[in-house]
Amino acid sequence: MTVPQRWPLPAMAFGGDWNPDQWPREVWQHDITLMRQLGVNLLSLPVFAWPQLEPSEGEYRTDWLAEILDALDAAGIGVALATGTATPPAWLVRAHPEMLPVRADGVRLDFGSRQSYCPSSPVFRAKVAALTTILATRFGDHPALRLWHVSNEYGDHISRCWCEVCAASFRRWLLRRHGSLAGINAAWGTKVWGQLYTDVEQIEVPRVTPGPDNPARLLDFERFCSDNVLELFRLELDILGELTPGVPRTTNFMGLFHDLDYWRFAAVEDLVSNDAYPDPGNTASHTDIALSYGLMRSLKSRPWLLIESAPSAVSWRPVNVPKAPGQLRAHALQAVAHGSDGAMFFQWRAARTGPERFHSAVLGHRGEASRSFAEASQLAADLATLAPVAGSRVRSSVAMVVDWDTIWALRPDASLPAEISWHAEAHQHHAALHQLGLAVDSVALPGSDLSRYAVIVAPTLYVTSDAQAEALTEFVRGGGTLVVGAFSGVVNECEQVHAGGPPGPLRELLGVEVDEQWPLLETDEQIVEFDSGARTVGRFWAEWIEPSDDVEVVAHYDGRPLHDLPAITRRRLGEGAAYYVSAGLPLDSLTPWLHQVCAEAGVDVRMSANPSVEVVTRTDGATDYVFVINHAPTPAEARGPADADVLLAPDGDPPVRRASGLSITLPPFGVAVLRMPSTTPSLHHVHSIEV
Ligand code: GAL
Repeated sequence: MTVPQRWPLPAMAFGGDWNPDQWPREVWQHDITLMRQLGVNLLSLPVFAWPQLEPSEGEYRTDWLAEILDALDAAGIGVALATGTATPPAWLVRAHPEMLPVRADGVRLDFGSRQSYCPSSPVFRAKVAALTTILATRFGDHPALRLWHVSNEYGDHISRCWCEVCAASFRRWLLRRHGSLAGINAAWGTKVWGQLYTDVEQIEVPRVTPGPDNPARLLDFERFCSDNVLELFRLELDILGELTPGVPRTTNFMGLFHDLDYWRFAAVEDLVSNDAYPDPGNTASHTDIALSYGLMRSLKSRPWLLIESAPSAVSWRPVNVPKAPGQLRAHALQAVAHGSDGAMFFQWRAARTGPERFHSAVLGHRGEASRSFAEASQLAADLATLAPVAGSRVRSSVAMVVDWDTIWALRPDASLPAEISWHAEAHQHHAALHQLGLAVDSVALPGSDLSRYAVIVAPTLYVTSDAQAEALTEFVRGGGTLVVGAFSGVVNECEQVHAGGPPGPLRELLGVEVDEQWPLLETDEQIVEFDSGARTVGRFWAEWIEPSDDVEVVAHYDGRPLHDLPAITRRRLGEGAAYYVSAGLPLDSLTPWLHQVCAEAGVDVRMSANPSVEVVTRTDGATDYVFVINHAPTPAEARGPADADVLLAPDGDPPVRRASGLSITLPPFGVAVLRMPSTTPSLHHVHSIEV
């Protein structure tokens, strides 16, 4: 058999999850005919077919899958072959009920949904390894195989388990991390509240306790759970790597998923793929989802793949709003604009049974007559037109620090001065930057190359290590502009407050000391006044800070309780500047303030007159591809450079070229893609598009 090049595909990926195992044989060929008609080139399967692949212990049946793969290959359709391990079959669970996961309150969850496994279970892991080995051995050479799709959405439903097996693994993990029992006691500060352990066996996973739990224990448990699932992922990756070297491996991520440190997951796989389900009923969802797309392209600094999205409604929100006409295309091309080399759907054919019987599909319950089939056909044509964009990078000069230690530590039950959520602060800062027309990348600290960016924003970096502070200091010295939000540099990796108080290792860089956090009551009206004279009422948070002499105050508190104290400071260092924002700023003042900060840092800022129109540029170094996407149900106007070539025209009126520029009318949810020669290799530069 001649095996074609596996990856990358010669075109943008287009297709989705297909579950032929849920349908009678006669449907298979009909589906494949329709797929060919649409230009499908990649399918994920068989994601949940373990019971059909191994109907009883050790009895493997793969012929049906071989028949399907052969038929797909004959049709020229590639496969992201799922290892099928996301849901163990009933016979396995009933034979080994100890592999079912246990909640923090001790309840063991039963079979009857999916992901019914404890990630540590030895029997589950052994059976996962066996099935992966069977599939890799049987299909590793199959010409339809393009990618391995390992398990499915790790952590969706189950990423944590509180059973005895997990407790034993947790103890081993703690000993590895802290070296000894004494190390664990010291890291956790167990002398407080009489928590001292005299034998490691006394340490348990944090189950329900009478009062507030030890924050360091909780943070270590989060890290352990993420690492534990990572170990499960690696088990499969290692088998696949050994048996089928050269076949890329991925698992589908879930955006800014709380439970798993995706920096660590991405480091061990070959391709980042992601599932995205922006809510069509939420007018801000394109802004929110862009933050997670920034993470996806940054995890490996390479294009990623939108491997799942909904053709229309999902079935798991309280109200599942369908996509309006055109929105399927706008959502899919937004992901492409942000670095995905393709767009795939969950799923090809709508289920008639089970919990997802009301989830949309390319083939809805009306089959080819479904609206989603027509809209997906149009998208297929668009993706074919956009083939030259594949492999290119997104131009971005601004990045946000994404750090799972801080995400995990800022939990609502962590006994903090007040509730403060990384996600809420990240979305707030991102919304401001997005409104300024900026595509925001993500950076890991330490680890990422910060020198690629003009501005780095850390909305809150509660857990800060010395190494992180050093990386940020070097960035600023080298000419970067850093914006650090409130409640940063507060604790070390063991959740111990830094000696001398916040901002701990960032003290010198920022040139401030925090005397006290000053969370605000709903009724407090703490005014923040900028040096421009602009005034705003702060949101939920303030701090009593004392600046050093070489620090400029760029905004101060006015009125009680923090009258005249600095609210925002700037310290110039080397070629750059470091800002500390101690106040929670509302969006309408954060946006203009970040506008000024970015403009001063030399970033091309285009304050959008219409926040529903998004402009994102991909470049391959020679050519720039500028995506202009209207996310609103009403038409919008945009204007580009007169010499821009229109690679993808929006539906409706064709763009009008005048000496003054190219006028584009975007219909509701319309998309245009312009093509222009790259004027600079710097990823900072963007073309001027007025909206
Ligand atoms: C994802 C999952 C798919 C499907 C989809 C529905 O979370 O990976 O299997 O359930 O959601 O939106």
